[in-house]
Amino acid sequence: MSKLLWIPLCVAAAGLYLGGAFISPFAMAGDASAGSDVFKTECSECHSVKDGRNKKGPSLFGIVGRAAGTAPNYKYSDALLQAHWVWTADKLHGYLSQPAKQANPGTKMKYDGLTDSKQLDDLISYLSTIH
Ligand code: HEC
Repeated sequence: MSKLLWIPLCVAAAGLYLGGAFISPFAMAGDASAGSDVFKTECSECHSVKDGRNKKGPSLFGIVGRAAGTAPNYKYSDALLQAHWVWTADKLHGYLSQPAKQANPGTKMKYDGLTDSKQLDDLISYLSTIH
């Protein structure tokens, strides 16, 4: 076998190894890469995952584990500020599976909820990777 063939093989193996190490702690419930597509269709109209980038809604950078209403320079509704939630995976699951105004009456977020629980798990896995 030509020595040249080993180079792409090694690169591929290293990529798999690093990819696995990066994703494994987060991918227990859902598929983060499928979740990235769910984010694009369902959330990206109003949200960015870039640190500090607020759109109609606040940046979702580091959202999993973050206290509600704490993205810098975003003007939240009183309803969300007074909820005193921490966005755990479970909390996000409950919040996003129903209309936002039902989960948090008075919120500015106009979203009807994601009823497909597989898509919801994928989405939350994806959001868990954004830190
Ligand atoms: C039509 C616009 C819109 C869509 C679509 C939308 N959101 Fe929002 N979202 C908002 C707004 C506006 C707020 C601020 C709510 C407030 O202050 O009451 C918000 C707030 C949030 C918060 C609270 C953030 C914090 O800093 O506490 C989370 C979490 C969230 N959205 C997740 C999502 C996810 C995930 C999706 C996609 C499934 C989504 N949103 C879809 C507009 C939207």
